[in-house]
Amino acid sequence: MILTTGSAGFIGSNFVLDWFEVSDEPIVNLDKLTYAGNLNNLASLKGNSKHVFVKGDIGDFELVSKLLDEYKPRAVVNFAAESHVDRSIHGPEDFIQTNIVGTFHLLEAVRAYWGRLPPEEQAVFRFLHVSTDEVYGSLGKEDPAFRETNRYEPNSPYSASKAASDHLVRAYHHTYGLPVLTTNCSNNYGPYHFPEKLIPLCIHNALTGKPLPIYGDGQQIRDWLYVKDHCSAIRRVLEAGQLGEVYNVGGWNEKANLDVVNTLCEILDELSPRADGQSYKTQITFVTDRLGHDRRYAIDASKLERELGWKPAETFETGIRKTVQWYLDHQDWVGNVTSGAYREWLGVQYGG
Ligand code: NAD
Ligand code: TYD
Repeated sequence: MILTTGSAGFIGSNFVLDWFEVSDEPIVNLDKLTYAGNLNNLASLKGNSKHVFVKGDIGDFELVSKLLDEYKPRAVVNFAAESHVDRSIHGPEDFIQTNIVGTFHLLEAVRAYWGRLPPEEQAVFRFLHVSTDEVYGSLGKEDPAFRETNRYEPNSPYSASKAASDHLVRAYHHTYGLPVLTTNCSNNYGPYHFPEKLIPLCIHNALTGKPLPIYGDGQQIRDWLYVKDHCSAIRRVLEAGQLGEVYNVGGWNEKANLDVVNTLCEILDELSPRADGQSYKTQITFVTDRLGHDRRYAIDASKLERELGWKPAETFETGIRKTVQWYLDHQDWVGNVTSGAYREWLGVQYGG
C-alpha cells in the first residue's frame, strides 16, 4: 500500500480517486482537514476498505511513525501543504509550520521507518514530494520556461516555504540516501478546486452574480494543467522516476489571467446563460494587485516527456470546458464549501 498526505484537498483527492480507477493497491490518507481539506471530495469512496482515512498532522512524528509501522507502505506521496499565495501574504505562520516544519517531521519519521525496513523493501521504497513551479520565481516575457536546473528564487511566503521543503527533501537524499523524488508542477485546475483560487472563484462568483476580481492589469501569465494530468504525472514519476531527481510537470498552456477569465465567461454564457441575456464578462472587475505578484510562470516539462514518456491528455480548451461543466453539475459541493469560514476569507481578501 501507499501513504498519501493532504489527500482531502484539491490535488490529493483527485489523485486518490484516479488511483482507484487504475489500481487495487490500498491507500492510507493522512490529512489534517484544514479549511482546504474536505472529506466530501472522497465521498464516492465510502465503504471502500482499500481507502483508510486518518485525520492528523504531517508534523506529528509519533502519529506518522505509528501509521508507517502499522501499514508498512511502499511509498509516501506528500501533497499536504498550505497552498494559497494570498493567504500566505495575510498570514505566513501556518505556511512555515506545515510546509517547512511539518515536512521536516514527516521526513524524520519516514527516514526512521525506511531505516528499519529489510534491504529488499528499502530498495523499492519511495518518498515523492509534490511541489510547485513557483519556487523558481518570476519570468520575463521572453525568458525560456522553467527547467529543473533553474535557480530557486521564490518570491511569496508560500513559494519560499515550498522551496524550503524541496531543499529538505533534496538534503535527505544527499545526506541519508532517502529514496526521494520531487515534482514541480504548474497551476492546476479541475474538479474539487477550492473557490479561493482564480478559476473556481470566478466560476462561483459568475454564477452568484458577484464581481470577477482581476488583480492589477490581468496580464500576469500562468501555465495551466488539468489536475488529472498532474495525477498521471505523479503516478508515472512514482513508478519510474530516477532516485533523487526532480521532474517539472506542465501542460504547455501559458495564459494571461484576463484571457482565462474571458474564456470562463464565454463557456458559461454558452452552458448556463444569465437570465438577463448579458455576458458574464460584464462582471469582470479590476481590483488592487497582489503584493509582490509574480508576472509569469512557464514550465518546460520536456524532461518528464523525454525520460518517462509522460504527456498531458488535456489541452486547456478541453480541460477548462470539463471543469466548468463539473462546477455546474456540482453546485451542492460548492454550496458546502462556501459557507462560514469561506465568507470570512472573502471579507479579508476582497473587503466584504
Ligand atoms: P489544497 O490546499 O487544496 O490541499 C491541501 C491539503 O493538505 C488539505 O486537504 C489540507 O487539509 C491538508 N493539510 C494542510 N496542512 C496539513 C498538515 N499539517 N498535515 C496534514 N494535512 C495537511 O492544496 P492543493 O492545491 O491540493 O495542493 C497540493 C500540493 O500540490 C501542495 O503541496 C501544493 O504546494 C502543490 N501544488 C499545487 C498546485 C496548484 O495549482 N494547486 C500546483 C503545483 C503544486
Ligand atoms: P491563484 O489561483 O491564487 O494561483 P497562484 O497565485 O498560485 O498562481 O492565482 C492565479 C492567478 O490569478 C494569479 O496571477 C493571481 C490571479 N488572481 C486574480 O487576478 N484574482 C483573484 O481573485 C485570484 C484569487 C487570483
